[in-house]
Amino acid sequence: MTRTVVFTATAILIGQSLSSCAAFSPAASTSSFSFALNDAVNTPVEPPLNPLLSQIKPSKTVEVFSLVKQMEAEGETVTSLCVGEPDFAPPQCVLDAATAAMNGGQTRYTAVTGTADLRKAIAEDLKSRKGVEYNPVTEIVVGNGAKQCVYQGLLAACGAGDEVVVPAPYWPSYPEMALLVGASPVILETSVDDGYLINPDALDKCLEEHPKAKVLMLCNPSNPTGGVHSTELLTQIAKVLEKYPNVVILADEIYERLVYTDDGQCTSFASLPGMFSRTITINGFSKSHAMTGFRLGYLAAPERFAKATSVLQGQITSCASSVSQAAGVSALNDVDDSWLENNVVIMKEKRDYVLQELAKMDGVSVSVPPNGAFYVLPDVSKYYNGDDTQLCLDLLKEKKLALVPGESFGAPGTVRISYATSMEELETAMTKLREFLESL
Ligand SMILES: Cc1ncc(COP(=O)(O)O)c(C=O)c1O
Repeated sequence: MTRTVVFTATAILIGQSLSSCAAFSPAASTSSFSFALNDAVNTPVEPPLNPLLSQIKPSKTVEVFSLVKQMEAEGETVTSLCVGEPDFAPPQCVLDAATAAMNGGQTRYTAVTGTADLRKAIAEDLKSRKGVEYNPVTEIVVGNGAKQCVYQGLLAACGAGDEVVVPAPYWPSYPEMALLVGASPVILETSVDDGYLINPDALDKCLEEHPKAKVLMLCNPSNPTGGVHSTELLTQIAKVLEKYPNVVILADEIYERLVYTDDGQCTSFASLPGMFSRTITINGFSKSHAMTGFRLGYLAAPERFAKATSVLQGQITSCASSVSQAAGVSALNDVDDSWLENNVVIMKEKRDYVLQELAKMDGVSVSVPPNGAFYVLPDVSKYYNGDDTQLCLDLLKEKKLALVPGESFGAPGTVRISYATSMEELETAMTKLREFLESL
């Protein structure tokens, strides 16, 4: 009864305050009131959620990570290789820039597309390192992490009735984001023989069979395989795309500073002849500068797309954090290349160690050694009849080791290992995994 009174009072208050608005609808206060009455007779009406949600899967990585955090809160010690974030701190100058920004009064909204300083620094960085020229005023949109930029890019490029080609194995957010914008994901399988990279002929066939395809997701380097498409392969992909002028390429290059090939290069798709006008490039600071918590990423695209995404962002979050943006300026202007190169050396050592340990494990194979990012996707299908989810659950329960099931990346029978952690943690993890598999 008390609750009813509260709800009734709330309904009246809402009604009163709303009645002063031009858009007030009496129906709104009536429905609040009928909720109160229904509550009174103990048959609460449950307003339905957005039907779109029934199609969306929660992120498995986030689920596993939440489980880890819960176990840790209960006093357990868990070895976690599930989350994709570097274990080191951002460079000191970045932290200092953030502090200076706060103390210097940079605590207010910025322009929707980001501060002029950051957009200028991004444009200069893309021009000098990737050979792509963007107008910092009209072609760069800074957002709250690359993830938001991917979503806004998709929202700008496609919608209901369209299809989004997602090469598998994929970052799990891609198909879910496609659904969120009302489009349908079309999974383009890649093969171990092709190094889990896009096969141009298979892409051609896929696009021919899917005339509604409006976007191709291109994750390069790839999460979760660590595959890096060479310039030659990207050029072949671009050649195929010439036949399909309506397809926009959403090039997620967030891992482009973590490449372990001899030349260490990752070509920007937008830099290929004819591709600039139809490519939306995504990048950010989470992986390269270990700035995951700053939530800072960006989208670079021809004005048409950039303008559309800034309109969307203006209605969704306004702008990225002013303090993070100041830190981002420092990340691009003050951090010496040697800091980034040193991280690549360290990460490569970790990759090599994990590969070497996995090679010793019976029934585990890494057919495609990663060349970039910080993930390995070993095949463990010899265990659990290929049920990687159950394997990960039991591994977490019995050995307190957290990996992410490959099924959520469109790669059943595999598990994803993130090696962006300390060497000590990696050694513990590899011992735990070996012992667990040997016990089966
Ligand atoms: C492929 C890919 N794109 C984008 C992101 C998002 O990065 P951010 O932290 O900048 O939102 C991630 C993070 O895991 C990722 O793996």
